[in-house]
Amino acid sequence: MKFFVDTGSIKDIESLMPLGIVDGVTTNPTLMAKEGGDPRKIIKQICQLVKGPVSAEVIATDAPGMIAEGRDWAAFDEHIVVKVPFTREGVKAVKTLADEGIKVNVTLCFSPTQALIAAKVGASYISPFIGRLDDIATDGMGLVQQIVDIYRNYDYATEVLVASVRGPMHVVEAARMGADICTCPASVIEACFKHPLTDIGLEKFLKDWAAAKK
Ligand code: G3P
Repeated sequence: MKFFVDTGSIKDIESLMPLGIVDGVTTNPTLMAKEGGDPRKIIKQICQLVKGPVSAEVIATDAPGMIAEGRDWAAFDEHIVVKVPFTREGVKAVKTLADEGIKVNVTLCFSPTQALIAAKVGASYISPFIGRLDDIATDGMGLVQQIVDIYRNYDYATEVLVASVRGPMHVVEAARMGADICTCPASVIEACFKHPLTDIGLEKFLKDWAAAKK
């Protein structure tokens, strides 16, 4: 499973890149607004650091506007994946952009039918928002399983990009279900490293080694 970082923070990305586990980055307008600088400049920097897929979202809500923004983003950097919300207009834009060979990540997916339609129009990625479903007492990971099953049935090339991840158990479940990618806030990636028995074990090994040398 690929790990993407769900962030607009250069600091987060710089701290995670040396680990060798970051395959890409997803951003959204909210994450970019948190950073406070020029979002395009920041996204350019992210592309240069990651050299992998970096999702940048369109703001227009009509298909012609989304298509124009999508083309502009695609020309901006070779690593850009254009993020388009799942709406009727969004689907029209995805079809046009995908037919032109532009990679599209369909975002704000909350149902298996939305995922099926996104695959049919050639999306490169589908982003089910699992945390936001869990927040309203709906089974977010259940949606991921449905999408994985549907895509396997028809051999769709669209990659399942699990988004709105809240903790390491989402990562575990995504990997068990065979999702292609999990995009995580930096804090979730950090949490995936932690185990108290590792810390206790290492402390004892170091103490015993020091004692043996005396
Ligand atoms: O990037 C999209 C998604 O991961 C947002 O997550 O935490 O705002 O629901 P969240």
